[in-house]
Amino acid sequence: MNNNDLQPREHWTTRLGFILAAAGSAVGLGNIWRFPYVTGTQGGAAFLIIYLIAIIFIGYPVMITEMTLGRKTQRNPVGAFKSLAPKTPWWLVGALGVFTGFVILSYYSVVAGWSLSYIFRAISGFTPDMDFADVFVGHITGVGVPIFWHAVFMILTIGIIASGVVKGIQRAVKTLMPILFVLLFVLIVRALTLEGAAEGLSFYLRPDFGAVTAITFNDAIAQAFFTLSLGMGAIITYGSYLSDQDTIGDNAAWVVGLDTVIAILAGFAIFPAVFALGLTPDAGPGLTFITLPAVFAEMPLGSLFGFLFFLLLSIAALTSAISLLEVVVAWIVDEHGWARKKAAIVLGAIIFLVGIPPVLGYSTWDGFEFLGMDVLDTYDWFANSIFLPLGGLLTAIFAGYVWQARNLQDEANRVEGSINVGAWYGFMIKIVVPIAIAIIMLVGLYQTFTG
Ligand code: PHE
Repeated sequence: MNNNDLQPREHWTTRLGFILAAAGSAVGLGNIWRFPYVTGTQGGAAFLIIYLIAIIFIGYPVMITEMTLGRKTQRNPVGAFKSLAPKTPWWLVGALGVFTGFVILSYYSVVAGWSLSYIFRAISGFTPDMDFADVFVGHITGVGVPIFWHAVFMILTIGIIASGVVKGIQRAVKTLMPILFVLLFVLIVRALTLEGAAEGLSFYLRPDFGAVTAITFNDAIAQAFFTLSLGMGAIITYGSYLSDQDTIGDNAAWVVGLDTVIAILAGFAIFPAVFALGLTPDAGPGLTFITLPAVFAEMPLGSLFGFLFFLLLSIAALTSAISLLEVVVAWIVDEHGWARKKAAIVLGAIIFLVGIPPVLGYSTWDGFEFLGMDVLDTYDWFANSIFLPLGGLLTAIFAGYVWQARNLQDEANRVEGSINVGAWYGFMIKIVVPIAIAIIMLVGLYQTFTG
């Protein structure tokens, strides 16, 4: 017996509820941790321009596709492909998505755990005499402490998902997203009013095309998928809780727009502050955890702003993590009839365990190496450079050629909004999106393996 026969599917109770949930999924570590450091190492505004092109020409059409697949089928990713192409292997694309959700959440929660622990470090004070590189390395090379914070973060995620779509996800994002906007605003005002902020702005806004390589394009596309939560069924799943009264073109534009604006704003909170205090933004992944605490230590009321920053980062991570767990939970609830609570707890616990190796990769297992990467970076590389683009590529081919772009377009336009999905959609999803992803994946892989 299928759970769907017992209980009607939950639906978002308001349009805002859906937009905040999907934007909450999109806005996460990708915007506030990864986007600034990738931008910082890949030519500032030059990267920004390439990234925006990827968002508009690849991200937006794929966002429309996933939302429509979900709304139409009212199913998790595996069920969505099954219901549109029964008795074909296409459901495997959904299964790849569920698997990807599993992998991403396992290490995402580890990084989010670092962020949670930094909230408390900020409370006990960031002072100029601290060596923040040491503090960070000391933190991640621990065993018990990072595992503890990883567990705390997973418990928060499980708690929200166990409470359901409306009482859990929607309620959480309606409280957390406004807090996120306010925190970001406060941090931007602080950064822009520091003396010397202008230098950071000019780095951020003046493109350095000399830093652009083939890897930059690969990073821009990988970042577009990751930051928009595309290519693994999160948006299919959230879309499946839309009723057929909801517009697609507009909702997709809102989510893509909010995510992009917040990533760009995060840059305005970070680069001016980094430059104002005489530091450089090219620290890579350590930008958030090493450079920024050093910045906070130097500014007046720095510990307070540090506290607000890591609170912002943790909230952003939480509203994304719930969408990752929801994909996995929706799959087992829809397809295997599990109760939601049990699914959230059991799967959340397994994901927690899968996240232990990335923690240990900095201590017990620091001998591990794959293409020069530690365990966490290896998980991240597979997810971002392979699974998400591959999922996006196959989803585009499915929508364009199997279900047919025309049908998807009609379905998306069933309810009229201010943005209709026009004929351009077919051209994008059948030609531009697959070709761009295929080329960039191949170039990226070639570069990775030839160093
Ligand atoms: N979009 C999230 C971020 O930017 C990460 C994410 C990826 C969430 C895939 C859900 C699905 O941090």
